[in-house]
Amino acid sequence: MEHLAIIMDGNGRWAKARGLPRSEGHRAGGETVRRVLGFCRDAGIRYLTLYAFSVENWKRPKEEVDALMGLLVAYLAGEESMLHKHQVRLRIMGQKDDLPEAVQAELARVEAATAQYERQLILCLSYGGRTEIVSAAKRLAKAVAAGELDPEAIDEATFTQHLYLPDVPDPDLIVRTSGEMRLSNFLLWQASYAELYVTPVLWPDFDKADFDAALASFGKRERRYGGV
Ligand code: IPE
Ligand code: IPE
Ligand code: MG
Repeated sequence: MEHLAIIMDGNGRWAKARGLPRSEGHRAGGETVRRVLGFCRDAGIRYLTLYAFSVENWKRPKEEVDALMGLLVAYLAGEESMLHKHQVRLRIMGQKDDLPEAVQAELARVEAATAQYERQLILCLSYGGRTEIVSAAKRLAKAVAAGELDPEAIDEATFTQHLYLPDVPDPDLIVRTSGEMRLSNFLLWQASYAELYVTPVLWPDFDKADFDAALASFGKRERRYGGV
């Protein structure tokens, strides 16, 4: 498998079950990210995309959003040396301009510092699949209006070129934790032929056995892409 994408869900329920504030669930979820990066490295997975914060998540209470943004910066500060050690490139996917300036600056710094590495950790922040598609349509419309693009020349490949990270291949497998059977606006364009795997395990509890179970399930799938 080349590209694994994960909808990291269930941090809040994990905390609630322990009588802890939701932010503690997000902190524990950060530990899982650390572990899963190691599993992916050992499994030879080249791209790992993590859905960390959706465009819809801005609707959450300010304390929770602030806690998440703070954890993000702390996580990057703590993990930067690991990214270098394991030669992983950090990339951000989403409406970066929506993020607090201090967060944007830290993300841009780590992205630049790791840009030379082949393996990629793609963090989806202020990400929405529909927003991504609309932004691609807008860019195409501008190119047409500027006389740089013939509308008849727009095909799937041209469209893909205007998404956030056009060079990243589509995900092979999308895993969602905590049992919800929905995409919640994740990678709507790229998910067209992704295999899906949902586990009831909450993200902070997701361990090596759960990771192996997801990969084993993927290994048994027959991907037909509409063929026979
Ligand atoms: C996923 O956990 C993390 C984010 C969406 C930021 P949740 O915070 O959605 O946890 P639940 O779904 O409420 O348990
Ligand atoms: C999806 O989880 C977004 C992320 C994991 C970042 P949500 O918890 O926001 O999704 P819904 O509300 O259950 O669909
Ligand atoms: Mg959730």
